[in-house]
Amino acid sequence: MIHDFHINDGYHTINRKGNEQMCGIVGYVGDKQAAPILLDGLSRLEYRGYDSAGLAVRDGEREIEVVKAKGRLRKLAEKMDEGNAMIGCCGIGHTRWATHGEPSEVNAHPHSSERQVADAPGVAGVHNGIIENYQELRDKLLRKGYTFYSQTDTEVVVKLVDYYYHKYQVGPIDALAKTMVRVRGSYALAVMFRDYPGEIWVARKDSPMILGVKDGESYVASDVPAILNYVRNVYYIGNLEMACLTAGDVRFYNLDGDEIRKELTEIKWDAQAAEKGGYEHFMMKEIHEQPKVVSDTIRAGVKDMEGTPRIDLSEVGFTDEVIRGISQICIVACGSAWHVGMAAQYIFEDLARIPVRVELASEFRYRNPLLDPNGLVIVISQSGETADSLAALREVKENGIRTLAVVNVVGSSIAREADHVFYTLAGPEIAVATTKAYSAQLIASYLLAMDFGRVREVLEEAQYTQLLTEMMTLPDKISQILTEKERMQWFASKFANAHDIFFIGRGLDYAVSLEGSLKMKEISYIHSEAYAAGELKHGTISLIEDNLLVIGVLTQDELYEKTVSNMVECKARGAYLMGLTSYGHYVIEDTADFTVYIPKTDPHFAASLAVIPLQLLGYYTSLARGLDVDKPRNLAKSVTVE
Ligand code: M6R
Repeated sequence: MIHDFHINDGYHTINRKGNEQMCGIVGYVGDKQAAPILLDGLSRLEYRGYDSAGLAVRDGEREIEVVKAKGRLRKLAEKMDEGNAMIGCCGIGHTRWATHGEPSEVNAHPHSSERQVADAPGVAGVHNGIIENYQELRDKLLRKGYTFYSQTDTEVVVKLVDYYYHKYQVGPIDALAKTMVRVRGSYALAVMFRDYPGEIWVARKDSPMILGVKDGESYVASDVPAILNYVRNVYYIGNLEMACLTAGDVRFYNLDGDEIRKELTEIKWDAQAAEKGGYEHFMMKEIHEQPKVVSDTIRAGVKDMEGTPRIDLSEVGFTDEVIRGISQICIVACGSAWHVGMAAQYIFEDLARIPVRVELASEFRYRNPLLDPNGLVIVISQSGETADSLAALREVKENGIRTLAVVNVVGSSIAREADHVFYTLAGPEIAVATTKAYSAQLIASYLLAMDFGRVREVLEEAQYTQLLTEMMTLPDKISQILTEKERMQWFASKFANAHDIFFIGRGLDYAVSLEGSLKMKEISYIHSEAYAAGELKHGTISLIEDNLLVIGVLTQDELYEKTVSNMVECKARGAYLMGLTSYGHYVIEDTADFTVYIPKTDPHFAASLAVIPLQLLGYYTSLARGLDVDKPRNLAKSVTVE
């Protein structure tokens, strides 16, 4: 999210932008010292990127104590003797990240209202999200006598809570509810009131937040890894809901202040899965998890029925009757998830003969798209929180069109709001550049397309079984590709100083090229283009020059010769060619300067294999350039703002 700060000091008008999309929240109340738990929880969210951090901790009825630091979490920890100097069993913590504007101690959260007692907060709070009307609210609060020290919207929202709390002489529920009605924007908000020791109050709208409980302890976090080492049973708080955490108990309220009931969900993720597990980077670990992730996602959707494998989408809520009633499909997503959509389009149309279009969520949401009332809109998202995808989903739902979410994070907003959910089983993905979630999304697309193909009687029984059997070999084939990763490392070091790279392919190979190119761009900062090979001659071929790397993806037998011709055209203009094809196509070596082979598979599944060397190429290029592989500049794992 981008904050636009217009600071008018009477002499200068400074226009600043503060970006807090990567912020993290952790809160704890129980019988243990809060600060070390909060510091540990925040450290699990470090991968999201941040520039400052802070804690608010309270010891029984004593005043709330706030400590903040600019820079790494280590600095904050040192400031409070690893948390030992901050006594108290109730507290909240935050990591803040800004791309523009000032990362500073004063802008770091928690923010507080010191209205009651000098230097002691009446309300202290942390916040993820953006308050769109913060300027108007700030002006109002200034008129009411409040002073602002930071440039953040969070300080505004915390002081607004304090304002309603005192003006109406109400309790936390009403003060929060009035604030929620007054603010526009998104928030995951956690606050502590001076008058309510041992309680953490939270409110949420359009920004992720989970709450965990176990004997005598309660936790709140903006993301699962923050509390996974402490608690497994969690609640998902809904939009425009509030909750109060006390030691071992959580109570939920709606905007009217009525108590509401929630079901606990057990998080089954392996705590180790959120750590690096011996790899130098999360991205490499996640690349290596792909055989398992692919196998898990296949196993979740394929059941053995009397010795024969059958796709079973009953958990998704897709019966044959539902599928039969669907006239067309529209896939909406962003980034790599959109690339999966591009691949899925080819697969659905071929295997199920159903019209499919693929839309970028950020474009789709502001159009007035024409959708068939019997159509299905599939929103693909790893995080389930991508703002553009979520907005597109809501737009579609308003029109009464059936929606399906293909999502990785259980209980995420997109998962909760869609009519049907297909959960990919990729587990927590930490590296900003997606790898294993992309692979799991591809599998979800195959399963859906094959089931549609069966129901629509496009796929005959024998072909259906053959495809299923082949799909089950993908995990082993991915493992096989990974055993040759050093070849990609060698090749990456050769081109680590490249300025431009082209990825070309046709059909499904074009969809894979899009993903290969994005992997290269986002983590190596090398400019690259993905082109439908046949499009080069319509303009882009003028960019080809001596030693420019052109990577041709050639997994689709029917299009092989065509793409080879396009590669030859590039070579004639001085390009260095890398070919990516399946074993057996050795004749490519007459054309390509360097060839990478992948195992043979059914052409519909080739993206699952072809993408692996391209992920490795992006990874090793970033490594060779000495860059931050897991946290590339300017990018967030979960883009919860426009
Ligand atoms: O969480 P989502 O799948 O909705 O995220 C969509 C994109 O932001 C994401 O795929 C992004 O492009 C990745 N950084 C790609 O590696």
